[in-house]
Amino acid sequence: MDPVELGLQMLQDRRRILGQPCGVTPHDRTRIATQLELAAEPWAQARQLLEAHRDIVAALDALWPQILPYLIKGNEVSPVHHIPYVVCFMAQIGLLEVSPVDLKRGVLAAVLHDIGIGDCSLPKISEASIKRAEPAEKSRLRRDGIASRLEHMKLGAEISRGLLRDYQQQSPAALADEDISVILEIVGSHDYSKIPLMEDHVDRKWLLGSGPRDWLKQCHWEADALWMLTPAGILVDLEREREENTAANRHEKLKFNLGLHRQIIDLYSEAYSPAEMQQFGFHDGLLYRSETGYQLAKQLIRSLHD
Ligand SMILES: [Fe+2]
Ligand SMILES: [Fe+2]
Repeated sequence: MDPVELGLQMLQDRRRILGQPCGVTPHDRTRIATQLELAAEPWAQARQLLEAHRDIVAALDALWPQILPYLIKGNEVSPVHHIPYVVCFMAQIGLLEVSPVDLKRGVLAAVLHDIGIGDCSLPKISEASIKRAEPAEKSRLRRDGIASRLEHMKLGAEISRGLLRDYQQQSPAALADEDISVILEIVGSHDYSKIPLMEDHVDRKWLLGSGPRDWLKQCHWEADALWMLTPAGILVDLEREREENTAANRHEKLKFNLGLHRQIIDLYSEAYSPAEMQQFGFHDGLLYRSETGYQLAKQLIRSLHD
């Protein structure tokens, strides 16, 4: 079956379960077509970057038609084109910051990381809406926000496990068991660092360590976070919050998102000593530790100010 049609069917199933009107409307089709158009450029760039890594491109080509229906199912929570953006950033960072084996793991984690969103029973709650909420409402939003973040990671790892095992069976040389376990570990924990933003205290268990063990996770985190600084990501935020797409609002949103990147690092400094913070080497108080991730962030900030 065509992945888009399958995705639209899955979207109807989701709406039925959530008790919403479940027919597919022309508006749904236009929305998906627009998201797919917006996905074309980052996909082309990612393919070009990964040209020399044919095994990675082959894995992306094999997995994408199976991933796409899940993304369409979740498109009202997170748009389809978020994924090729993260893949593209992960490729750029990974090519310069990790080994070829980890590049493959990082890129496959990027293409899979939000696959569980459409299956979540709990609504996604943004950090922005928690910030704006009345005090009485805040604690409920916090609790639900954390639960839904955890749910999309858990479901995402389960779905990814099935897809990766199938792909390994078809192409045994393409993926080692260790690759799968590293990819699932990233998918299953990729948003942990957002949890302290919603809790009112910092627990180290949500934070990454500064050693080599967590370096690939760090690179993936940076790739995922860079989306929030892209014009496409900012537009999605503005639409979600029903704000007008004006230059002033785009700047305001960028400032807010950068503030979140800074706030996470403030939380790190509550949990770690100054000496440990130095070991992390976060650039400019933002969440970027890799030189490539930081340069990409700077470019995006600059281009939004132009
Ligand atoms: Fe996520
Ligand atoms: Fe994401």
